[in-house]
Amino acid sequence: MTKNNILVDEAQGILRLDTANTTYAMNISNGLYLGHFYYGAKIPSDDLSYKRALTTPMSEEALKKDFCVYMDSTDFEYPGWGTGDSREGAIKVRDGNGVTRTNLLYKGYRISSSKALLPGLPSTFGTKPGESEVPTLQIDLEDPDTGLLVTLFYSAFYEEDVIARRVEVRNNGKEDLVLERVLSASMDMPAVDRDGRDFELLTFYGIWAREFTRDVRAIGFGKTGVQSIIGKTNNKNQPFLGIMSKGTTQEQGEIYGLQFLYSGNFASYVEKGPNRGIRVSMGIHPEEFSWTLAPGEVFYAPEVVMTYSSCGLGKMSRSFHDLFRKHLIRGAWKDKKRPILINNWEATYFDFDTEKLLSIAKKAKECGIEMLVMDDGWFGKRNDPDSSLGDWWVNEEKLQGGLARLGGELEAMGMKFGIWFEPEMVSPDSELYRAHPDYAIAVPGREPSRSRNQLVLDVSREDVRDYIFTGMSKVLKSAKISYVKWDMNRHLTDLYSAALPAGRQGELLHRFVLGVYDLQERLLSAFPDLLLENCSSGGARFDPGMLYYSPQIWTSDDTDAYERIHVQEGAQTLYPLSSLGAHVSVCPNHVTGRIVPFKTRGHIALAGTFGYELDITKLSSEEHEMIRQQTAMYHEYNDLIRTGDYYRIASYQENGFYDCYGVVSKDKSEMLLTFIHVMNQPCMPERWICIKGLDPEKLYAVEQIDDSTEVPSQKAEKASSDSDRVLCKAHGATLANAGLVVPCRYGDFQSVLYRIREVKE
Ligand code: GLA
Repeated sequence: MTKNNILVDEAQGILRLDTANTTYAMNISNGLYLGHFYYGAKIPSDDLSYKRALTTPMSEEALKKDFCVYMDSTDFEYPGWGTGDSREGAIKVRDGNGVTRTNLLYKGYRISSSKALLPGLPSTFGTKPGESEVPTLQIDLEDPDTGLLVTLFYSAFYEEDVIARRVEVRNNGKEDLVLERVLSASMDMPAVDRDGRDFELLTFYGIWAREFTRDVRAIGFGKTGVQSIIGKTNNKNQPFLGIMSKGTTQEQGEIYGLQFLYSGNFASYVEKGPNRGIRVSMGIHPEEFSWTLAPGEVFYAPEVVMTYSSCGLGKMSRSFHDLFRKHLIRGAWKDKKRPILINNWEATYFDFDTEKLLSIAKKAKECGIEMLVMDDGWFGKRNDPDSSLGDWWVNEEKLQGGLARLGGELEAMGMKFGIWFEPEMVSPDSELYRAHPDYAIAVPGREPSRSRNQLVLDVSREDVRDYIFTGMSKVLKSAKISYVKWDMNRHLTDLYSAALPAGRQGELLHRFVLGVYDLQERLLSAFPDLLLENCSSGGARFDPGMLYYSPQIWTSDDTDAYERIHVQEGAQTLYPLSSLGAHVSVCPNHVTGRIVPFKTRGHIALAGTFGYELDITKLSSEEHEMIRQQTAMYHEYNDLIRTGDYYRIASYQENGFYDCYGVVSKDKSEMLLTFIHVMNQPCMPERWICIKGLDPEKLYAVEQIDDSTEVPSQKAEKASSDSDRVLCKAHGATLANAGLVVPCRYGDFQSVLYRIREVKE
């Protein structure tokens, strides 16, 4: 049966999905189990039985005698538990007798032309949520002993070369079943690439203010990978796995990329066995997870998205960028240019009042900034991080006239207004905690551990969510508020929910994540025009799940442009530039003490959402002029940056001297190229940059549009006409091969922007 790039060959027992450049195939192994057959470059629909015969040659008799050998050596698609497979299981279910054997037999398949949304969870979709023309293959697996029905869903995003997969677990039995692990994806694949070289593992690690650091490790025998066990995703590990050829570059090498659309605990592992195959697994971390499923109930495991590139990392990044921009990010701001904001956190921290904010807004407006974001410290009696979280009413001592006055004056000025919340938290010193101590996650009779002197609210509870939602709605209705920064600044510890019976405490963490999603969904439904930016001590909850709710996420509390070179490079490997919160801040930088030229700070922030985080009233007139030029550049190039294809050309992390990346429009008529001369050295050579992503046949004009070494007045004189700025005219093929020469600059952290535009021959 063939339908929309899904092909099931019942005679061969092969089920396959195709995208533009990839094929994903499963097989029915020995007529019993669902096997993983192939994932990689697209192949014709040939008879593949020769391959199956080589991989699973067991007769019925042999199978009976040596079942464990079969289980331990077969490539499975969604392995069960306790039947002889010694590798990481995907699912483990305990029945009423305490038995955990979970034996999933292949039952059948269905093909549909659309992809349903997941109830209460982030979900990729077709053109619009709910109108999803994405072909989907559903495969049923059944454990006849318990009545467990597991349905695997595979949706093929053809143009993006992405397969989205997820799992539904239904209890068709007669008694409660306890799910002790339900991973979202498992895949048994060769441990070597097409050149026979061992695959390596690419992951991203970090810490506060140093997120998205790239790590490449050998995949040795045994299990390796990344995880989160703090109740949310974190800055220490991204929910991403890259299985790649040794020495993979932007344009060469094979890579399988998997990302998890979830914002809680996760396990992402690669396990290499003695037969040199690897098992890749991704899903909710089985630690601290259990879920009681009554007869007739269904459990929805979150989605995993996977892509394969036979031509390097750059293709993987672009596939994920397109998927997330078109099929994950939703709402009013999905395809829109976002307002340039100025956030007062680094300008004032907790020390501000209405006059101070208005003075910042006034100057910002004069320089082309469009929105003031009032950060932490406007509510309850909060003047430091020690109190008031949960008391979501305005501190009128600080903000006389309340939000109505501030919002009104901003509106009169023509500035939009944004506001900070940390909805999932409560300070022990707050009206909320004094009235409802049980709202916090804590073990009765034991002192819960505090972090930033705060506790986490039990948002798994509906009454707690109602309290939060009511408080936030009231604030959002009290003035014209266009934007919310939703922060989350600690781990979950002391796990106990007053709302769950003892036997269901293992559900708390997943219910917490569902609660956060529910709150954000309610907020977006009530305020559909709201621009939401998620944040967690910088990028400690930057994951694809959050992108379903907010089109942008604060990438890092480190606003030092030099540090941002590597943080943003890491983040851009996985996420579209349009989703990366990036601001220009003051120097010496508050986190590192480093000084980077103002223009370079602007150039680097342009590769994200773009905004400012500084006291603009304290800047010089020269700097104000630079802001005017930067905000004008944002308007000129943001459509391209937001919607174009990202090409990484050189990496400072790799070469130690310079960085270079560009964004090319989809029709290949235009490119914005950023070159950063990061570290200077005597006798530095000129840099030879081979420009990727252009159409080899098209003729382009290369213009230098901004240079950090130019002072604004010189620039105004210099840029008298476009043609004055043209450095050369050349075909895409010339620029890709003979390259562009960037002269050596004087000083560290210098940057230059080039616009490359198609011109008539
Ligand atoms: C977190 C955020 C910062 C800022 C502070 C406010 O650390 O990442 O941007 O909002 O909280 O307390």
